[in-house]
Order: sequence, then structure tokens, then C-alpha cells
Amino acid sequence: MNVVTGNRFRSLVVLTGAGVSAESGLGTFRDKDGLWTQYDLNDVATPEGFMRNPALVHAFYNARRRNLLDAVPNAAHLALAELERQWPGDFLLVTQNVDDLHERAGSRDLLHMHGELRKIRCENCGDIVAWEADLDQATDCARCRVGGYLRPHVVWFGEMPLYMERVYAALEGCDLFLSIGTSGLVYPAAGFVAEVRRAGRAHTVELNLEASDGHSLFAERLYGPATEIVPAYVARLLGLQPQAS
Ligand code: APR
Repeated sequence: MNVVTGNRFRSLVVLTGAGVSAESGLGTFRDKDGLWTQYDLNDVATPEGFMRNPALVHAFYNARRRNLLDAVPNAAHLALAELERQWPGDFLLVTQNVDDLHERAGSRDLLHMHGELRKIRCENCGDIVAWEADLDQATDCARCRVGGYLRPHVVWFGEMPLYMERVYAALEGCDLFLSIGTSGLVYPAAGFVAEVRRAGRAHTVELNLEASDGHSLFAERLYGPATEIVPAYVARLLGLQPQAS
């Protein structure tokens, strides 16, 4: 295992996936009894599925939104917020997760590339608003007053992820890339490590419960529950960084 020793990194990009929220009680997608073993993603996570049966899609996201209200950030979320607070250089956290546990743990410079479960969007006027309650297709948009066009502000399969320009610019310029709690099976996020390697200047680290699909592309790999390996790695990383004077 390559151990980071004494390097002063300046520009850090962290990618997270469902595994970072697993120990907060939020289901992952592809683990044993994960969400995609309980639902067909074509029915609940595609625009076609929403057109076919909006009530099923609303029920799926309403249940996840209610579940999220009971969840709390875990030690991995808290460690990443601390890493950001103490980081002496550029820091960006890109999450595939639609939960708000990173924010609630204190993360600030954070991009939700797959959208946010606690927001909804009007497909008629584009308005995006915070939303805690259940949603159904009869609800009118508060801005354009038209009904039947409100949907979860979540990126479905076949739709463009958000903030990609900012993400690729950060990947291009980083000298440390951490990938945490993701299976590395869904693009474009699964391709981020290859982007970083192409730029040729960063140390790449995978922190996951088990080897991801792209594990061989990482220079360093740490396996175990996120609530154990993420705080330990953050402590080691911050211990190596000469503190900003
Ligand atoms: N600690 C660390 N890693 C964990 C833990 C844990 N406690 N539990 C599970 N994992 C790892 C699994 O080993 C797996 O590699 O988290 C990963 C979860 O993989 P997925 O369920 O595929 O979730 P993710 O990679 O985030 O999926 C990417 O796919 O369905 C779409 O939009 C959805 O954002 C999601 C995207």
C-alpha cells in the first residue's frame, strides 16, 4: 500500500457515493438489499418511468425523503467537514448523493451532481425550491401556479448531471483525489479517477467497504466501513499538512 508521507497537497477533490451515508441508515443502491434490488430503476429513476407512472415515482422519493428526515450525519460526514475546515488549499466535495448529510455535518464547498432529495423542480417554469413534505402530481407550482409539473430535483438516468464544468475544472487542477463510498459503476462520476490520472499530477485514493469497479486505477486503496477509515485517513492527512501559517 502506498502511504502518503509528508506531502503537502494543495488542491483536493473528494467524490462521495451512497456508501458514505450507509451507516446513517440510508440505503445504498447496489449492495445486498440495496434500492435497486427492491425497485426497478427504470420505473423510478428515469424520465420515462416518471411519464409512465408519476405516482410510483413520487411514492419512491417521498419514502426516501421521509427516511432522510430521521437520518443524522455519521463520523465520515463529520470528518470530511473537518477536513474542509482545516484544509490549507483548494477544496471541493462532489457528491453523487441526494441526501443533505454532508451539509448537516458542516460541509460548505459541496456540489450535488445528482441533485437533492429535499428540493423539487417545476418542469413548466424551472423553479427549484426546498421541499420537506410528500409530493404528488396534483400539487401546483407556487411560482407559475400550474399543476402536474413538479418533480424531485434529482438527476435521473439519461439526464445530465449538474455542475459538470466546475467538477472537471477541479479534477484537472487537483493534486489529491479521494473517492469514498461508491461502486464506480455509474458515469460520469466513475470516470473521474481516469480524468485525474490523465491530468497526470494527482495522488488518487479509494476509500470504500470493498474494491470498486475502478479500484485498479487508484494509487492507494483503503477498505473498511466509512465511519472508521475516513476519520482515520483525514487525521493522517491533516497530520501531514504543515498547517497554514
Ligand atoms: N462504508 C464504506 N463504503 C460502503 C459502505 C460503508 N459502510 N457500505 C457500502 N459501501 C460501498 C459499497 O461497497 C459500494 O461500493 O458503497 C458503494 C455503494 O455503491 P452504489 O450502491 O452503487 O452507490 P453509488 O456508487 O453511490 O451509486 C452511484 O448510481 O443509482 C445511481 O444516482 C445513483 O448516485 C447513485 C449512483
